[in-house]
Amino acid sequence: MCGIIGITSTPNYSPEGVAKLVVRALLRLEYRGYDSAGVAGIVNGEIVVRKARGKIEDVSRRLGFDKIRSYCMIGHTRWATHGVPSDRNAHPHTDCRKWFAVVHNGILENHAELRRRLERKGHVFRSDTDTEVLPHLVEDYYVVLGNVMSAFEKALGLIRGSYAFAMISVHEPDKIFFAKNKNPLVVGIGKGFNTVASDIAAIIELTRRIVVLRDGWYGYVSPHDIVIYDERGEPIDWKKYVITVEWSVEDASKSGYPHYMLKEIMEQPVALQNTLAGIRRDKAVEKAINILLNAEKIYITAAGTSYHAGLYYASLTSILSGTLVHPFIASEYELYVKTINEGDAVIAVSQSGETMDTLNAVREAKKQGAKIIAVSNVVESSIPRESDTTIYTRAGPEIGVAATKTFTSQTLALYWLSIHYALARGSINQSEAKELLREAEKAPWLIRRAIEMSKPLAEKLAAEISSAGSMYVLSRGIGVPVAMEGALKIKEIGYIHAEAYPAGESKHGPIALIEKGFPVIFIVPNDPRLVYLLMGNIEEMKSRGALTIGVLSENTCRECKLDIRIETPYADKLLVPFTHTPFIQLLSYYIAINKGYDPDKPRNLAKTVTVE
Ligand code: G6P
Repeated sequence: MCGIIGITSTPNYSPEGVAKLVVRALLRLEYRGYDSAGVAGIVNGEIVVRKARGKIEDVSRRLGFDKIRSYCMIGHTRWATHGVPSDRNAHPHTDCRKWFAVVHNGILENHAELRRRLERKGHVFRSDTDTEVLPHLVEDYYVVLGNVMSAFEKALGLIRGSYAFAMISVHEPDKIFFAKNKNPLVVGIGKGFNTVASDIAAIIELTRRIVVLRDGWYGYVSPHDIVIYDERGEPIDWKKYVITVEWSVEDASKSGYPHYMLKEIMEQPVALQNTLAGIRRDKAVEKAINILLNAEKIYITAAGTSYHAGLYYASLTSILSGTLVHPFIASEYELYVKTINEGDAVIAVSQSGETMDTLNAVREAKKQGAKIIAVSNVVESSIPRESDTTIYTRAGPEIGVAATKTFTSQTLALYWLSIHYALARGSINQSEAKELLREAEKAPWLIRRAIEMSKPLAEKLAAEISSAGSMYVLSRGIGVPVAMEGALKIKEIGYIHAEAYPAGESKHGPIALIEKGFPVIFIVPNDPRLVYLLMGNIEEMKSRGALTIGVLSENTCRECKLDIRIETPYADKLLVPFTHTPFIQLLSYYIAINKGYDPDKPRNLAKTVTVE
């Protein structure tokens, strides 16, 4: 949820110090959380801390983050969990003597008890955060042990909870100490410098060679050294774990677009192209099919947007194979996990691969003996690492908090999986499968066309409906997950209450709210039966005064009672995520712009939710 960066360098690598690099990394991390920001660096043997509530750009300019002349610095961008967003709760936090400065992502469960114990010993706390116990604990142990690493180890031993920590110390002024448990942290390897970061995107301009840390790992980086210990305290030969990230700096920057969200919507054709290219040469689909064929029951679990991709997969698999897939929201795993038996398959969809709810569902399902198939956009992230196989989407880094290109990439990967599964179990024959796969190959082109066709209309409509207090997004069959994704986007980015449900349900309650001008968006999949049924629902809404907006294939449903038609390229109904999603993404984006909100940083939300 929060973003962490730490950079330590030699004067040769960065003669002016690392402050500017830290600020740039923080700006790349802002999507992680943005209620406050701070940095700490070693300057002339002392720790300098600057931090405040507010957005990184403002806070950094006001407090002169980049003016700190330091070669060893840590930085943080916060999404508050313990303690309200405020200057005093912003990270980094220090101990009484200012020997240590710490930034943290996660939640320390036993912080209250530790704090009481430390306060009894005379420690004075200056924030309401759980994090602050760490520097005081390390200080306490340092007084006795006189060694930073030993004191850090001892302190970690007392802490319960989830964390990614980065810490600097006046006693070892060129080192950044780090530890990871249930929150992502990577080490970035450079020449004349080394880094730690919560996200690869933060350090991509510095290095592409990284080690993704695992739970329980800790250690330090200095400009020339990297030392990592495992959860038992044994040193790790980290060179075996180095991976080279394929993402480019371009991928992680706005490239001339006003917002990441718009850039990521526009990047969808390339994201789909890359996802297809990756899946074709990947063995993961084959492994996944084996797991699915041997499973008595198939589940799919995820959170937020990824859950909608999961619902799409469930509908598709029912259509193509007649197999019932059980979708469940990851945070509700307790209701489902007891129904999972040895050998059942659980597909876990998570673009970040780090969502705590989804990770918990995976862990509990494994305890029941399930086989796990992950679908993720981040190589080596926690969920893929704990799964039996992973189908990777290759959408590139997604920085905008609201998922866009990762959703359509996930649906494409799942479409591919569903077709191969249907073929393997004999529900469709070779030529049908070939035909469907040919359709999948069209997805990048279709989405490009859909963006072109819907962008001007989305911008125009956003201006008309930005002031609406509420709206519905309705569909039927394979279109329902897309409608649900649409309503989520309108809520999270446009701040308009939006509800999605299968259109047939209107008459069972929701239609009571319809009055003159109430916007109702219909996602109309290209299927004659669904068009026919939706035509009736459109009529029902229209006759009660609703503003009816239809997203539908060009030249279909001419007789539908629609006030506004948003035409999308003609394609098979199963491809509805690629033809109909761009309109709703763009509509939400332009509603935010109209209302003066930043679409990249919706209030109260965070990109990767690593708490339960
Ligand atoms: C957060 C984000 C959503 C995202 C969800 C699941 O709530 O704001 O955009 O869909 O997490 O994330 P995941 O990384 O697991 O797909």
